[in-house]
Amino acid sequence: MRTTTPRQHGWRRRAVALAATTGLAFTTMLALANPAQAASTLGASAAEKGRYFGTAIAAGRLSDWTYSSIANREFNMITAENEMKWDATEPSPNSFNFSRGDQIANWARSNGKRVRGHALLWHAQMPGWAQNLSGSALRSAAINHVTRVASYYRGKIHSWDVVNEAFADDGRGSRRDSSLQRTGNDWIEAAFRAARAADPGAKLCYNDYNTDGINAKSTGVYNMVRDFKARGVPIDCVGFQSHLGTSLPGDYQANLQRFADLGVDVQITELDIQQGGNQANMYAQVTKACLAIARCNGITVWGVRDSDSWRTGANPLLFDAWGNKKAAYTSVLNALNAGGGNPGNPGNPGGSSIDTNAWYVLLNRNSGKALDVYNLATNDGARITQWSRNNGNQQQWQFVSTGDGYYEIRSRLSGKNLDVYAKSTADGAAIVQWTDTNGSNQQWRATVSNGYATITSRLSGKALEVQNASTADGANIVQYSSWGGANQQWQLVRVG
Ligand code: G3I
Repeated sequence: MRTTTPRQHGWRRRAVALAATTGLAFTTMLALANPAQAASTLGASAAEKGRYFGTAIAAGRLSDWTYSSIANREFNMITAENEMKWDATEPSPNSFNFSRGDQIANWARSNGKRVRGHALLWHAQMPGWAQNLSGSALRSAAINHVTRVASYYRGKIHSWDVVNEAFADDGRGSRRDSSLQRTGNDWIEAAFRAARAADPGAKLCYNDYNTDGINAKSTGVYNMVRDFKARGVPIDCVGFQSHLGTSLPGDYQANLQRFADLGVDVQITELDIQQGGNQANMYAQVTKACLAIARCNGITVWGVRDSDSWRTGANPLLFDAWGNKKAAYTSVLNALNAGGGNPGNPGNPGGSSIDTNAWYVLLNRNSGKALDVYNLATNDGARITQWSRNNGNQQQWQFVSTGDGYYEIRSRLSGKNLDVYAKSTADGAAIVQWTDTNGSNQQWRATVSNGYATITSRLSGKALEVQNASTADGANIVQYSSWGGANQQWQLVRVG
């Protein structure tokens, strides 16, 4: 997160860059790696593991400064606790009101966070007029609702809970008896197809509670998902609400894994855990379970402070009523920071391939600093430097596959590619950003060894390096014959 305004930042950058060019010593080439510091917030730490950490937000609480500042600082995925539900968004037939949903979505977007949509269809919190419908009239109203709401938020939602809580707690894994269910057993797949047509970019999830271990209810859901996958019904993910008591099912992780093995993502969507001797430990176990599963995208807790929780008296969240971090918070953060490998992140043990959908910060092994578009430039020819890591868009890069073993490395800030200036093949040639030309001076091979990537130009075969193994902010990035130095090695830290 940025700590200075862009103007201050640029001024300070130029000053430090000048100092750097006069004070360089070749001996810094042998400096040891400067390991990145452990992240200090839930969202940042989860992002380093290729995941998100979210919270439910109530629109009415956003004006509470303690609440919104904790939410802004700690979380990078936001669910509207009630404001995108059917009763809130369609108070009368085919008449929509997105004002409270937008309040949350806009707050999230303006603070750089993504949004989980919750929930398109649910037997609870249906508006009164829909509660009075049945049969084909209810089916049409339900599908119209899915289409209109998902279309309105098209492109703005990471994952939608398309259908919520449609299974019963009867110990047999049956569908819940509801007016929606009585419109026909295919109502769930009809909802998923309508949601896909309305917003092809959102992941579409089925979401439920008491499905956290392997039991009759979760097996009912499992069988439905397996059937949907077999028949091509568009489902991408399953949400596990995880409203938990004082013990975690011993097969919690195994249950998530069996769903992931069906070919869907899994997400923990409404986590809260009864206060008691085991709370902090259980939070850590849930976090570790998600990290252990490559297809677990992230965790959302159902509220910010204990006093914001729907579970009055259970104190089930990560912050107390005054906004202090609880032991449970520390145990989640520690579990995230210690956590296992990041699928798709070669910067961590256990990762092997580059995810072309992800955004990475590239940390130089020698300096610990991040590959950075100098002074937030967006023009062709702007030089690329290293700068203390701040995760800004000028430090985020996407690896765009050329399809034949190379990548274009694209700036999130400018949309431009890393480019060897003027197609030079010389040692020391400058690396700049330039509009995509498809040229071989914009194509790079990333060879990963021991968690670090050596990045070589397709044109010259030379390696991307920090010039003179500088450790200073503002030092230039150039190409140079590959010699295996730490200043030619980059850790890819996934941040989005
Ligand atoms: O805002 C009104 C207030 O004006 C009115 O005076 C008061 C009277 O009871 O009600 C207030 O609305 C309440 C609303 O929360 C906002 O606080 C509703 O009554 C109350 O029913 C509603 O509860 C929500 C509940 O879903 C509805 O079933 C909870 O906030 C929300 O946390 C909870 O979330 C659900 C998920 O959507 C699905 N999974 C389970 C989870 C927990 O129940």
